[in-house]
Amino acid sequence: MDLSGNVVGYNAGHLAVFKRWLFENFSFRITLFFKEENAGCSASPVLKVVFEFICRVYGVDIMAYIEFKQVCKYYHFGEKYKKNKKTEEKSGHRIIAADNMSFSIEKSEFCVIVGPSGAGKTTLLNMLGGMDSCDQGTITLDTCVISRMNEQQLTDYRRYDVGFVFQFYNLIQNLTALENVELASEICRDPYDPKEILAAVGLSHRLHNFPAQLSGGEQQRVAIARALAKNPKILLCDEPTGALDYQTGKQILQLLQESCRKTGKTVILITHNQAIAPMADRVIHIKNGQILKVERQEVPLGVEQIEW
Ligand SMILES: Nc1ncnc2c1ncn2[C@@H]1O[C@H](COP(=O)(O)OP(=O)(O)OP(=O)(O)O)[C@@H](O)[C@H]1O
Ligand SMILES: [Mg+2]
Repeated sequence: MDLSGNVVGYNAGHLAVFKRWLFENFSFRITLFFKEENAGCSASPVLKVVFEFICRVYGVDIMAYIEFKQVCKYYHFGEKYKKNKKTEEKSGHRIIAADNMSFSIEKSEFCVIVGPSGAGKTTLLNMLGGMDSCDQGTITLDTCVISRMNEQQLTDYRRYDVGFVFQFYNLIQNLTALENVELASEICRDPYDPKEILAAVGLSHRLHNFPAQLSGGEQQRVAIARALAKNPKILLCDEPTGALDYQTGKQILQLLQESCRKTGKTVILITHNQAIAPMADRVIHIKNGQILKVERQEVPLGVEQIEW
């Protein structure tokens, strides 16, 4: 491994944990450079095996790109919830929106989170996106511990690392499609060109239209372009097809799957529609705030192969 040069095609999560391990064991910082566009595609399997062997020998956990460890989230209402440790007596009310959630997601995966209404899907996504905090447990992205960030760090994290796509698009109505995307890209360090990204989502002919002049599917495309233009580490989508008809919904899913495959973005999509699950690399099933099961699908289906 060339520590001062490029480590081509190696998994960024592995490199990050290697850096942390070097720092913790030898108390010095080391800068490893790697080609971001190749990270995660395992072009160097030998290096991966050697690295995993070293980790095993030294008992180092290999961290996944995204990790939830025993995450709990409570919403309180009315009198504050209290539990007397001696008598076990409980007072007040709380909703357990996340109940000891543990799972991991790898870089560049297309992950679908499925579960019924009230299962805790949005709560999970909001905690990962830095829009809500957890009460217990640890949330990490690319070895950064989101659950321990202060307000300023969370602001930077949301600004630079997270792209959000909402069910009802959340576009600014008095700005054109292009201006909506430009607004998002202006606050980022390394944004994509707004016109190029709008062309990539098939909207080069609608740059100067206002949201009210666009169809639901087109508005959602603008919202996806706005999230992608930030060049974020993760793309979080909360029911992005929930407000769309069948065909338009499929087009949006195709666009998200392509963003994941072509740009290597990690995409996490929430849905209550189980039929969407086969197109994911990873499916996380949740119910009552708990992780029911996590499935890794080696051969995800294309959008054209799924029906609902
Ligand atoms: N701000 C809040 N205050 C109080 N309770 C909340 C709050 N947000 C969510 N909850 C509760 O937490 C639980 C999980 O909610 P969440 O929105 O995460 O579910 P969901 O899986 O996204 O559901 P849906 O599919 O209907 O969007 C629900 O019981 C909900 O009522
Ligand atoms: Mg929700």
